[in-house]
Amino acid sequence: MLILGIESSCDETAAAVSLDGRTILSNTVYSQIDMHALYGGVVPEIASRKHVEKITAVASEAMDKAGVSFKDLDAVAATCAPGLIGALLVGANFAKACSLMIGKPFVPVHHIRGHIAANYVAFPELEPPFIALVASGGHTVIIDVEDYTRMSVIGTTRDDAAGEAFDKIARVLSLPYPGGAEMDRLSKGGDEKKYRLPRARIEGHPYDFSFSGLKTAAVNLVHNANQKGQEIDRPSLAAAVAAAVSGEIVPRVIKAAEEKGRRAIAAAGGVAANSRLRSGLERICAQKGIKLYLPPLSLCGDNGAMIACQGYYELMAGNIADSSQNCYANMAVSDILAGR
Ligand code: KG4
Ligand code: ZN
Repeated sequence: MLILGIESSCDETAAAVSLDGRTILSNTVYSQIDMHALYGGVVPEIASRKHVEKITAVASEAMDKAGVSFKDLDAVAATCAPGLIGALLVGANFAKACSLMIGKPFVPVHHIRGHIAANYVAFPELEPPFIALVASGGHTVIIDVEDYTRMSVIGTTRDDAAGEAFDKIARVLSLPYPGGAEMDRLSKGGDEKKYRLPRARIEGHPYDFSFSGLKTAAVNLVHNANQKGQEIDRPSLAAAVAAAVSGEIVPRVIKAAEEKGRRAIAAAGGVAANSRLRSGLERICAQKGIKLYLPPLSLCGDNGAMIACQGYYELMAGNIADSSQNCYANMAVSDILAGR
């Protein structure tokens, strides 16, 4: 089964071709980050327009690199939710047009399911059930992956995602957008105990997160220091933020695995590239005898391979759609997207 997967939910225009789900024949990503960095964050209008400009070239490159032609494809998959609506529509409509052209199914894919599937690409032996942690610029969510297309949310963020907190704090530290990776690098020489940052618990919802208090506290700390003409120890603040984020996420993910009786945890999303989060998960999973899957950094961020892979499993489950398929800015990962 050859599937072309298209991803355009935010600021990456990406396409990939998968063979039987897990074998990736090509994976082409065009990042718009330089453009958005000028504004300190993603500008939705610019994102949509750049997707329009790049989608054909990116998809053609993925097809060429895979050495396949459109008539060889068995289906075309695209991210249809969640994400920036104008951005999603570009990739989804391109994919629908391809599917109509070749007379093969169109497969709508949930972006978070795609992030989870990055682990199937990286680890051939991984099969559900397992617990997934998806931490990105827009999401921080713990999911019980019961099967390839059946999953339920255990905990999610009530406000900002972990990546959003990293990016906003990075901004006041004058780091370029997106600041998560820069914060990670900066934190290496820091003392994580130097600054005390708040932790949040949500009454009655032990698996849910809140990162807005952490974000505001760190931003205020920097502003107050600036007003008083004091120096901020930037590496130590970056280390304290990473320790706080990791300290929120790791225990909840482990507790979720224990409660559900799952013996494996798979991480995904851009924030899963964070070194403190990775080492925190590694340490506790080793102690508890839980198998941990951490995809390579290249598969943590948005890419087409994850959509081509999840597209295969959605196709196998019969989750295909016709040309009236719409896109959605928000949608629960447990919902079936096809036909909505
Ligand atoms: O999954 P992703 O590429 O796009 C979304 O779907 O959001 O995630 C991007 C997010 C950004 O907030 C970025 O700052 C963050 O992932 N990120 C990191 C690291 N690398 C990327 N955050 C913390 N540490 C990192 N090493
Ligand atoms: Zn993403």
